[in-house]
Amino acid sequence: MHPNMNPDLADARLRAAVEAKAEAARSVLREVARDFSPAAFANSLGAEDMVLTDLIVREALPIEIFSLDTGRLPAETYALMDEVRRRYGLKLTLYYPRHENVETFTRAHGINGFYDSVELRKACCHARKVEPLQRALTGRKAWITGLRAQQAATRGALAVREFDTANGLEKFSPLADWSEKEVWAYIRLHDVPYNALHDKFYPSIGCAPCTRPVAIGEDVRAGRWWWEQADSKECGLHVKKA
Ligand code: ADX
Ligand code: SF4
Repeated sequence: MHPNMNPDLADARLRAAVEAKAEAARSVLREVARDFSPAAFANSLGAEDMVLTDLIVREALPIEIFSLDTGRLPAETYALMDEVRRRYGLKLTLYYPRHENVETFTRAHGINGFYDSVELRKACCHARKVEPLQRALTGRKAWITGLRAQQAATRGALAVREFDTANGLEKFSPLADWSEKEVWAYIRLHDVPYNALHDKFYPSIGCAPCTRPVAIGEDVRAGRWWWEQADSKECGLHVKKA
């Protein structure tokens, strides 16, 4: 298990830092619910998103929580969707790809055609994630994500609030300045359910065929689209127009 996943919960400084950051995140979420209604939270069921789920549900904030079901998610992610429903009584809204887009892709390139080039990988992500996300965000004033600045080279400049020019609405990332250790401290302190794959060296989880475990010391996103260069490893959900 990755050492950051089991932080020392007796460390009073860590507990205080996590509580302060959780309070700051709650205040961002309250502001979004109050001033940017209707707002929606894009929940991938990853560790960060489980923290946000817990914060939103405990505060009973009027923010819709949705997931993009690409059709290729790992069984463990579907199991967690079910657990979230049982534990929190939360009905996740699921968005699916348009069948004609998936059929066109698989007819032309095969079921796993995304391994053949970055272009085809991005086309698959577009059909299975980006287009459904666009539908999920239609009519919203803001959306919420579990992005953290430390997750990737491409995310270093992330702010808690940004205008998402690609989708034309405000985008809030309340955990932007959290460390991985702080995310896990919150999960342990509040007994938040999490994806069983995290215990098998998967710090970042996407679709099953495009995610693999990482070695200790490797970058948290090293297991995502591992055959590609780090600078191309975004699926198109989080892009900035120049
Ligand atoms: S990705 O762009 O590489 O796929 P990542 O897995 O790091 O993203 O997740 C970053 C954020 O994007 C998540 O915290 C979540 O807000 C959103 N997201 C990613 N995948 C999904 C999904 N399948 N459903 C809903 N939101 C998602
Ligand atoms: Fe397709 Fe892989 Fe992107 Fe999932 S992560 S949408 S399977 S290319």
